[in-house]
Amino acid sequence: MSAIVKIQDLTKRYDDGKLALNDLSVEFMRGEIIALLGPNGAGKTSLISIICGLTTISDGLVTVDGFDIQSNYREARSLVGLVPQELMLEPFETVMGTVSLSRGLFGQAQNHEYVEGLLSRLSLWEKRDSPIRELSGGMKRRVLIAKALSHEPKILFLDEPTAGVDVDLRRDMWRLVKDLQAEGVTVILTTHYIEEAEEIADRIAVINEGQILLVEDKSILMNRLGKKELLIDLSESLIEVPQGLAGLGVRLQNGGRQLSYSYDMATEKSGIPEVLGALKIEGIGFSDVHTEQSSLEDIFIELVAER
Ligand SMILES: Nc1ncnc2c1ncn2[C@@H]1O[C@H](COP(=O)(O)OP(=O)(O)OP(=O)(O)O)[C@@H](O)[C@H]1O
Ligand SMILES: [Mg+2]
Repeated sequence: MSAIVKIQDLTKRYDDGKLALNDLSVEFMRGEIIALLGPNGAGKTSLISIICGLTTISDGLVTVDGFDIQSNYREARSLVGLVPQELMLEPFETVMGTVSLSRGLFGQAQNHEYVEGLLSRLSLWEKRDSPIRELSGGMKRRVLIAKALSHEPKILFLDEPTAGVDVDLRRDMWRLVKDLQAEGVTVILTTHYIEEAEEIADRIAVINEGQILLVEDKSILMNRLGKKELLIDLSESLIEVPQGLAGLGVRLQNGGRQLSYSYDMATEKSGIPEVLGALKIEGIGFSDVHTEQSSLEDIFIELVAER
């Protein structure tokens, strides 16, 4: 796979002196779905805004399909579509009007068939003549997607696409993203949620404090980071972990009221049956069993510590 977006030594310092991107380099591959995963303020929106030509570069080089986003601004800009993090729409425009206008702004000839197809697949055709202010939040988000796709971009950026979105719309959105990928569109999305990245992305880039901590195939990353914990609430407190369980790596916590067992999601043998078996043999009663997945926060701490 060849790179469609190349970012070299990119630095962004805002006017107030805030360093949002710190000598960041990364490549996005043609046709992939890549998730930029990172906490609040990591620099995700800054990075996307720069690639889409909405924010200036302080230092470094960014090319989109070979076009330098500074010296070949117009060509680079025409190749990308952006669904912004914030809902930004003209309240009195109609759905059809705003999407057609977007297309026109990119210098594309009007294409009624394309726009109709776009609105239909986003379930907005019925609403085409409604003013934006009469739409629900989920519909407005779909209008933003329609706008971003209005000029048939090769690369779609989705900035926190599922923040405040219900399960149905999220599912529709992921279907659309997969369809677009099948049509050859490269999709770059940002998210706070590792589950989301896991569900949709081919690759995951972890970004923190303006730097890329790692870029990895999803499967490889999940293997490395996908730690889970089995928690067993005991009917009666224990003073120490019984022999049979200690040998399996089970620990005692919460003042002796809970057993915890860490396992790797990736490995075929989780060891859970053995732990449950040992509980039975030791005659230990429990009131509840549940699992916890390491949070993004834990993963960041681990990643940073590794560096
Ligand atoms: N226009 C601006 N002027 C000054 N500082 C800014 C501006 N936009 C963003 N920043 C700062 O740059 C840093 C990165 O912000 P950015 O919006 O890129 O993060 P993010 O990863 O998108 O966060 P979130 O997950 O909250 O959307 C933050 O410290 C932020 O306060
Ligand atoms: Mg953001």
